[in-house]
Amino acid sequence: MPALIGLEGVTKRFTSRAGDSVTAVEGVSLEIESDQFVTVVGASGCGKSTLLKLIGALLPPTEGRVLRGGRPVQGPSRDVGIVFQSPVLLPWRSALDNVLFPIEIMGWPVGKYRAEADRLIELVGLQGFEQSLPRELSGGMQQRVSICRALIHDPPLLLMDEPFGALDAMTREELGLELLRVWSERRKTVVFVTHSIAEAILLADRVVVMTPRPGRIVTTVSITLPRPRTLEMEFSEEFKGYAKLVRDAIGSTKGARP
Ligand SMILES: Nc1ncnc2c1ncn2[C@@H]1O[C@H](COP(=O)(O)OP(=O)(O)O)[C@@H](O)[C@H]1O
Ligand SMILES: [Mg+2]
Repeated sequence: MPALIGLEGVTKRFTSRAGDSVTAVEGVSLEIESDQFVTVVGASGCGKSTLLKLIGALLPPTEGRVLRGGRPVQGPSRDVGIVFQSPVLLPWRSALDNVLFPIEIMGWPVGKYRAEADRLIELVGLQGFEQSLPRELSGGMQQRVSICRALIHDPPLLLMDEPFGALDAMTREELGLELLRVWSERRKTVVFVTHSIAEAILLADRVVVMTPRPGRIVTTVSITLPRPRTLEMEFSEEFKGYAKLVRDAIGSTKGARP
């Protein structure tokens, strides 16, 4: 069985407005198995978002190949749910109608997905807010709506680009654990980008560590902490060991750091 996602020697170069060539991702090879929760961690500007867009076929690689199920990806697909850093909800639609929006776009029968929308909304703790407009919800609640929206058509692959980036630490941890609950219930492959080492470890089966520009993968670390994960695990020796591994891998590419 081929891996769900395969990257083979993938390089992505952009041309800046000044006409210079910028290598955002260079020579990345990576395999992601079905049902894995993979986090990608690295400094700002190291090519994490670009990598995620390559995986989601929102961008074509300059060199190399991106495969899904052993076949080259053609373009954006229904099999993928994407959550961006900011919620991007439609302001005039209720939470429920935002969640159901992809179904409408795909021309599927909305009524049939109503129960599923309710279930997801309950799963992320938003019951009672179905009819609220985005502006009536906090940032964290809006992000929960976007997560439901990415999940409504039950895509086997979920791509998340620093989805909790704009949130305070407490909301962030709480939402992370909620996401793990959804993932364990619905079993999907998740690729989750973050610049937080602790978040990367707490959520993942495997942490992919990227170097600063041009973005390369320095190492991947398998996380064997038991599931379900809890916040207390962050204080364990095992967790601290992982954190040191990841920090050293990032640090080793930047020169000496205290
Ligand atoms: N569309 C683009 N055009 C030109 N340069 C880009 C574009 N997208 C990203 N870059 C550059 O590629 C590098 C990596 O960006 P990005 O993938 O967004 O990093 P990260 O998500 O890790 O912060 C940065 O130097 C960024 O300026
Ligand atoms: Mg980014």
